[in-house]
This record gives sequence, C-alpha cells and structure tokens, in this order.
Amino acid sequence: MDKNQIRDKVEKLVKELAGAQQVRTMYSQDHDLTRKSVNKLFYILEDLLFIKDEITIGIIGDEFAFEKEPFYDISAKIKGFIDHLKEIDALKISFLKGVSKEEITEFVGILAMNIETLNKTGGLEQRFESSNIKNIAFGKIGYRKKSDEDIIVENIANIAKRNFENGEDVLKEIAGNILESKNIDLSKIKSFVSGIMNNLLTNKSSLLILTAVKTHDEYSFVHNINVAIFSLLQAESLSLEQRYINEIGVAALLHDVGKLSIPGEILRKDTALTDEEFKIIKSHPVFGAKILLESPDINPLASIVAFEHHVRYNLSGYPERLFNDKTNLATMIVTISDVYDALRSKRAYAGEMAPEKTYEQMIEQSGRDFNEDLLTNFFNLIGVYPPGTLVELNTGEIGLVIKESALDNKRPQLEILYDNKGGVLKEPYSFNLLEKDPKTGEFKKTILHSIIPTEKFLVPEKYR
Ligand SMILES: [Fe+2]
Repeated sequence: MDKNQIRDKVEKLVKELAGAQQVRTMYSQDHDLTRKSVNKLFYILEDLLFIKDEITIGIIGDEFAFEKEPFYDISAKIKGFIDHLKEIDALKISFLKGVSKEEITEFVGILAMNIETLNKTGGLEQRFESSNIKNIAFGKIGYRKKSDEDIIVENIANIAKRNFENGEDVLKEIAGNILESKNIDLSKIKSFVSGIMNNLLTNKSSLLILTAVKTHDEYSFVHNINVAIFSLLQAESLSLEQRYINEIGVAALLHDVGKLSIPGEILRKDTALTDEEFKIIKSHPVFGAKILLESPDINPLASIVAFEHHVRYNLSGYPERLFNDKTNLATMIVTISDVYDALRSKRAYAGEMAPEKTYEQMIEQSGRDFNEDLLTNFFNLIGVYPPGTLVELNTGEIGLVIKESALDNKRPQLEILYDNKGGVLKEPYSFNLLEKDPKTGEFKKTILHSIIPTEKFLVPEKYR
C-alpha cells in the first residue's frame, strides 16, 4: 500500500467507525448488524496494522484527520459523530497492532454511550480503564484549542459572573445623564444573532465571504454585523455555552450603540478633532452602556462590552475608570473583531491594502491590545487570507481563497483561476496549499501576497 492507499483505507475506517457507532446506538452487541460493522472495522484495521504498528485518527477543528491532514469530504457527512467524540473528549483514537474483534466490539459499545451514561460511570477515561480494551487508546490531543484557551474557557463562567455582579452598579453610577433614551428591540436582535449562528454552523466560509463587504464608515450597520459575525465565530470555536455565545453575539452587535449620542457632524468630521470633541467621542462607551442597562431584557453583558470596547487588553484606551482589573472575555473577543473589521474598512478608504498587513499589524499588538491566545485563535479561524481573497502564488498563478486551513493560517484551500501568464483557466481547479511534493518534501505552492481584484483578475460571479 502506498501513502494514498493507506489514506483511503483510513478514510474508510473513519466512515465505518461512524457507521458502527450509529448501528450500535440502535442495536445490541450481539445483533447481526453490529457484528457486521465490527467485522468490517476489524478487516480494515487488520490490513492497516499489517504495515503500520499504529493507526491514529484525530479531530482537528471540525474535521477528522489522519497524520494532520483533514478528511474534508467525509467530515461534513459525519458531523454528528465528530460532535459526539468532541463531547465525550475522545479527540484522538489510536488502534494498535493486535487489536481483536472483542476489543473493537467493546470500544464501539463505549462510543455509542451518550454523555450522560458515560458521566455516570466516571467519564470516558474511567470507562476505558475498567474495560478489557488494551489495543485501542484515546486522547484529548489534536483539538485546535490551546491549553491556555482551555483555561480561559474553564474560567469564563466565573469571570462573567463576577463582572455581571458588580458591573451593573458601577456602570449605573458612572453613566451620567443620558441625552435621550433609545428603545432597543431585543427580539429582532436575538433572531438576527441566531440567524448568523445557524449560518456559521452550516457554512462558515460563505458567511466569512459576506464580511468581505467592506465598510467605508467604521460605525455603519455593516460594520456592526461584521463584528457580530467575527465574534460569534470566535465564541463558537471556544466551545462556550450556547447561551453565552448568543449573548456575545448580541453584545457584539450593540457594542457601539453609544455612538447614537454623538452628533453626526463630529462623527463625520475629517479634520482634527478639538479637545472638547474628542471628549464627546470618548464618552460613547459610557453612553452605550447606560442605554443598554436601561433597556429591559438586555443582558448586562452587552453593557459591559459597550463600556469596555475601547479598553485594550493591557487596560490602556478609554474609559479610564474600570470596574475590574481585566476586561471581560466577551470584550476581548469583540475588540479583536472590531479592530480587524475597522482596519479592513480603513484600507478600503485608502484604496485597499493587503489582508496580510492587517494580520501583521494586529499580531504586532498581541499581548498589548489583544489577548494573545484569542488573537491566534482568531487568525486560525479566518486565516491570514480570508475566504474570498485573491492571491498570487510563487508559481505565478492566481487563486481565490475558498476555505481557511485549520492547520496553517497561511495555507488555505484555493480555486486556481489564472495561469502563470495571467490567462484565465478554462477549467479552474481546487488546490490545497498544504500539499507537498512527495520527492522534495517542499510545499508545492505558496502564497506570495494577496491581490486586489481588477479588470484583469476578477473574482468569478459564483463566488461573489
Ligand atoms: Fe466605539
């Protein structure tokens, strides 16, 4: 078996494993269908373990992967199985030489248990230890999240709770007289946020392409929607509770609502601001927080984020008076989204600059303006070259970014559109920049830089 044949077999293994798990949730261990699926797994493994001592499959992001290369095609089809494995913390599964049918049967039985049942017996680890399985191992490694992020996630409930408790009173105290009270329709916002969420869960890349609609006005509605999309994407990747994810979405959408209190002529002024005008601008987070606190049904998190959204990770920025010695996780998330989209918008003004420059500029501020782990996670999610970006390759070809890579934020999947002489390809083809030349071990193609769509190089209609 060559490398590709092994990979195909492993893909089959993953597919059969998902199938076997499903069968076992419906039928007993001795049922014919269970036996058949266990047999299939056994023979695939026997072939594979004849040439390898160990076969390890794992989950990277939302995909099943073998030797760090995801199986994009099947992963989408077995999303339920992947989600289940994530839930029970089985992110890596290794099959070792000598694995028996009995072991596979027992293993499939464990995989078919739901999380409640597993937890009752002390979780997957405990259940595994008390089993007779010796030649199958599982692990938690392989997930995109970094350990520091894990810590953030573990602590988030506490951080949020603490901020909720004292945030409201302090904000009420600080917020001065409001110019006018604005009514905010929460039901509309909630359905909008859940709409974005549904899209994110089913088709992340296409939603990201949507954010490529750049805003020339930093405070426009489009900007706020983009901030919500980027923030929901981040929140979702951190496996936060769904309730909290939605609250972050609402908070992101409303973070700049205090701008309503700033006269339009100051907002639109393109000459230098006077001290007095700058003071008015700087008051918008406090006004925003106050408006939100006074809106019935709006979660205090939205006011916290509105209050803090110009406070940087190192607590520089404004307002100067804070109610905690660190900003809320939701604020850290929203700030990253806000600055990212604002930078892109500014570039649109100045005649477009490269997304890789935005990346460099933000990474430079990592640890100061932004939490390092969240920023790294953000660029892992959207890639340095987000879907919809045209890029020139070291081969001279021009491609369009279709899907970011979970493994390398500078190596997305492309659709190659133009050849190395700038000619339109009659048959554009997909290319994964993670592909290496088997002889040299070097990457086959690499992005040199992004390019601005022009008459000569266009983004085809179907991707717009
Ligand atoms: Fe703002």
